[in-house]
Amino acid sequence: MPGLRGGRGNELPGFELGYPPLPSMPLPALGQVSSGLPVRPGSSRRSSGKVFSVQLLWKPAVVLSRPDAVREALVHRSEDTAGRPPSLVYSHLGFGPKCVVLAQYGEAWKEQRRFSLTTLRNLGLGKQSLERWVTAEADFLCSAFAAREGRAFDPSHLLTCSVTNVISSLTYANRFDYEDRKLQRLLELLERSLKEDVGLLRELSCLSVIPPVFCFFFFNLLPSPARPGGRRLAPGAPPYPPPLCPQAKGTPGSSFTPANLRMVVADLFTAGMVTTATTLRWALLLLLLHPDVQRESPGAPQKMVGTWVCKVQEEVDVVIGRSRRPTMKDQAHMPFTNAVIHEVQRFGDIVPLGIPHMTTRDTEIQGFFIPKGTVLITNLSSVLKDEATWEQPYRFYPEHFLDAEGRFVKPEAFMPFSAGRRVCLGEPLAKMELFLFFTCLLQDFSFVLPPGHSKPSDKAEVSFLSAPQPFQLCAVPR
Ligand code: HEM
Repeated sequence: MPGLRGGRGNELPGFELGYPPLPSMPLPALGQVSSGLPVRPGSSRRSSGKVFSVQLLWKPAVVLSRPDAVREALVHRSEDTAGRPPSLVYSHLGFGPKCVVLAQYGEAWKEQRRFSLTTLRNLGLGKQSLERWVTAEADFLCSAFAAREGRAFDPSHLLTCSVTNVISSLTYANRFDYEDRKLQRLLELLERSLKEDVGLLRELSCLSVIPPVFCFFFFNLLPSPARPGGRRLAPGAPPYPPPLCPQAKGTPGSSFTPANLRMVVADLFTAGMVTTATTLRWALLLLLLHPDVQRESPGAPQKMVGTWVCKVQEEVDVVIGRSRRPTMKDQAHMPFTNAVIHEVQRFGDIVPLGIPHMTTRDTEIQGFFIPKGTVLITNLSSVLKDEATWEQPYRFYPEHFLDAEGRFVKPEAFMPFSAGRRVCLGEPLAKMELFLFFTCLLQDFSFVLPPGHSKPSDKAEVSFLSAPQPFQLCAVPR
């Protein structure tokens, strides 16, 4: 049984390769799992090595850190590492084989994932129609910001409402008013279910036999996704597509049932809402802390070598102007904006330890033997903050994504969506939302600290997600 001893020189009988070692300075076991994290994000600064083992109470696990080890595991050994550890907690709710995020690697997962991807594409992902709904939702968001009339407010709630509406329009062909009571209830339950889900700690303790109650209520509040489409968001906006429908796919004996369709929808909601909204919160916070990203400081020379040229709003004005909303085609002409959004994701590092994987068969990573059934923790944080890759790993520095000529470049270690077979299914949608929401907001507003408020911290609150601490801003119309 692997787990407690390992490393070169600790070969298991019958195997030439050693099991990954425990860190030379073992972290106290409970400390490792406190807040559900076996190691602290950004732990590439610790000298634990790229591949090491931890004993999470009774489950042995292997932590993978740094770009080459994570890439080798997720991309080059993609099939070997595509499993998920069984989740006792969520099996209470029927999650697992019937959904995507927690499904074991196998035919049912492939079918659900293919269906979700095809559906997203059919509903307009990669087409102009989806862009137009996202932009229409960004308009609602801008109106809600404008209604604050420059007064101080915390933007989190409005951001979550608008991102929820994008998923809702895809799955239910409908959006909620931001004041809608059902939406408020859904968001409250989602927030409480994220708090009750303390990640691995819950899975590994006696808590695992207790069903997650808020998650249960959240799930039950989600309507059935089989309503007719065709409603319009707003005058002039495109009609919604027909919503997901259970007959959409599935052959006899397939994993599809109306009940499991709700699971897939719940997956899209939970995986897609908080992640994108949290990234937008980071974006607004970082704009506040680095106002030079919004607008070139008065009197600054056009070309400043070695310092920021601070171009997002300038780029928005030149490439898009004020008479129309952005489209995804604009992105190719906006390298600085693109670099800022990527740097927000790198710095925000919102899923520091990814979602646990599990080996589907015996495999080898970085020269270590890892047996079938081993839990793998992908330390995405150590990739996004890798000191050998990023010039300023712990600073917000959009130049990471610009070459010497100011062209957009993307290092391989940019992996906020993970990589390989289990790579985030919503990546294209999230990227579209981030670009369109961000540029629409900066078309309409400058963001400033409320008078008398001290600078908010850029230190994250880390649980399963790494989110900014609550902050307030003023949205000043441009
Ligand atoms: C900025 C926003 C987002 C970030 C940073 C993000 C990040 C991630 C990460 C790190 C994973 C784990 C991948 C792995 O297991 O290796 C994941 C999985 C997943 N994400 Fe996202 N995500 C985002 C937005 C979304 C959106 C908008 C959706 C859907 C509408 C979505 C749906 C999913 C699903 C279904 C999975 C599970 C994939 C599978 O197990 O096959 N995500 N995401």
